[in-house]
Amino acid sequence: PKHLKNGTTDEYEVTIATLPKQNGWVNENLVKYHDTWFNSTTLKGVMLAQDHFVARPTDIFLATFPKCGTTWLKALAFTIVNRNRYDFSDHPLLTKNPQALFPFLEIFSLRDHENEDELEISSSPRLFSIHTPYPHLPESVRSWASACRIVYVVRDPKDVFVSSWYHMKKIRSKELPQLTIEECFKMFCEGVYQFGPYWDHVLGFWNASMQSLDKVLILTYEDLKKNPIDSAKKMAKHLGHPFSVDEEKNGIVEETVKLCSFDNLSNLEVNKTGVTKIASFRYYENHVFFRKGSVGDWQTHLTPEMVEKINEISKQKFRGTGFTA
Ligand code: A3P
Repeated sequence: PKHLKNGTTDEYEVTIATLPKQNGWVNENLVKYHDTWFNSTTLKGVMLAQDHFVARPTDIFLATFPKCGTTWLKALAFTIVNRNRYDFSDHPLLTKNPQALFPFLEIFSLRDHENEDELEISSSPRLFSIHTPYPHLPESVRSWASACRIVYVVRDPKDVFVSSWYHMKKIRSKELPQLTIEECFKMFCEGVYQFGPYWDHVLGFWNASMQSLDKVLILTYEDLKKNPIDSAKKMAKHLGHPFSVDEEKNGIVEETVKLCSFDNLSNLEVNKTGVTKIASFRYYENHVFFRKGSVGDWQTHLTPEMVEKINEISKQKFRGTGFTA
């Protein structure tokens, strides 16, 4: 995607003001930019990153569509990469929500960078979360010449929808009219959801991984649940921090997985009662990032028609791409 190169913040706002708009789930500020729906403030961060962010060869990007396991992945990646800096008994995850450990690239790009140390991003390797679809990422992240690494987590869209529905109910402004599950389902299927459509998001990273297996590792939420040890090992290897034979023997992989598990994190005091500043414009209560943490919750929420509809979209969108989840 192209837009005003080296534009000022105001120029981004001018561009954004011309885009098609829709009411969203959490607020009413969704805009469509090159076939993707963005929250308008986040889109400014995406554009700023495209124009100004320069990836370092050591950078690590954790990419997810919202509700696919961002919080979990952030905890795992941070613990893996920094395992020589912190003991399990005195680990930052015991007192901070995973979302507070490092920033979203989209939001980081909107900030002045005075508080970099606070978010530990000046250390190497730098860790960033991204929800930005692959084609919208800064050139220096996508370039095959750049050695930076990406891990992408996919999740069954039926569970993504159910998770999004509950999340929306927790954080949607009370002043706005409530949305029914049917309304949200229709919007989700039409891609009207931040960073949507879900299917195009998956395909962007899938196609990139097919072009360069060294750069993009794809994991699934379902595999992470079924076999967290293997997934953690795969992730560590891909990120250039493989577990040694001794570490494996000494149970470090198990400790990592246990520290980051849903049961452990969701029961910590900080995640029951704490609050995290995700962006200068938004605070979240930490408990909103934890709900059930299971696979297949859609079975008790979706009607057979909804299941058929979403499965049919997946079939059509993924046909011929080689992607199977
Ligand atoms: P559910 O709503 O299905 O429970 P994200 O972090 O991308 O916003 O995704 C949130 C989803 O991941 C929620 O799913 C949440 O409960 C789940 N989750 C959060 N932390 C987790 C963890 N440590 N292990 C497994 N799932 C986790």
